[in-house]
Amino acid sequence: MPNKKIIIAIDGHSSCGKSTMAKQLAQKLEYIYIDSGAMYRVVTLVALRKGLIANGKPNVEKVISELKNINITFKWDEVEGKNTTFLNGENVEDEIRQLEVSQNVSPISTIAEVRAEMVKQQRRNAKNKGIVMDGRDIGTVVFPNAELKIFMTASPEIRAERRFKELTEKGDKISFEEILKNVQSRDKIDSTRAVSPLKKADDALVLDNSNLTRAEQLNWAIAKAEEIIHSK
Ligand code: DC
Repeated sequence: MPNKKIIIAIDGHSSCGKSTMAKQLAQKLEYIYIDSGAMYRVVTLVALRKGLIANGKPNVEKVISELKNINITFKWDEVEGKNTTFLNGENVEDEIRQLEVSQNVSPISTIAEVRAEMVKQQRRNAKNKGIVMDGRDIGTVVFPNAELKIFMTASPEIRAERRFKELTEKGDKISFEEILKNVQSRDKIDSTRAVSPLKKADDALVLDNSNLTRAEQLNWAIAKAEEIIHSK
């Protein structure tokens, strides 16, 4: 009998390594991986390009009317060994990771209509199960019936340190303090917004990876997934 295909929902704070783990887990299980945060980043990029954000405040109506022009797709990049995000066919993977997008994405993701459209697209991707999706509301709103829900976290300082390393390695000139501030302010907006705030689903397993290596956390997640996949 073929193995049961399940939905794995991974939620948690920003920059705690959700996508790294989600990606590796999907590869190991031969599942599809969807980075839902990248989708909110794409909408933010469009809003920035069109000048729809002034002093950190989006023009909500105009952002909503742009939604119909935004088609988000993902492709696995064999050469780089990573997931790549496309906006209407244009590779925007690097651009959506830049600090300007990170600094403006939380207000964009508080817009109810933006969330409704993203959730619709996210559910469409999971029609056939066999999916790992990471974000903030995957276990609570997008897939409340997911067979495995993981809530990931780590201390803000450790998360900022990891992000700092990642960005400086890419050549970005940025201070640790700036990143820490961004991590803390995103935590606050993500957890206190009215629509789909970041919160642990009652049935999610908590994974605090402050003191875990990537390999350790991955092995933990694989074991949890396999337990469910092989159960009757
Ligand atoms: O995971 P990330 O840092 O790339 O996410 C970017 C932003 O998108 C984050 O500040 C919160 C928002 N987000 C969300 O509101 N809901 C999701 N399912 C995923 C991300």
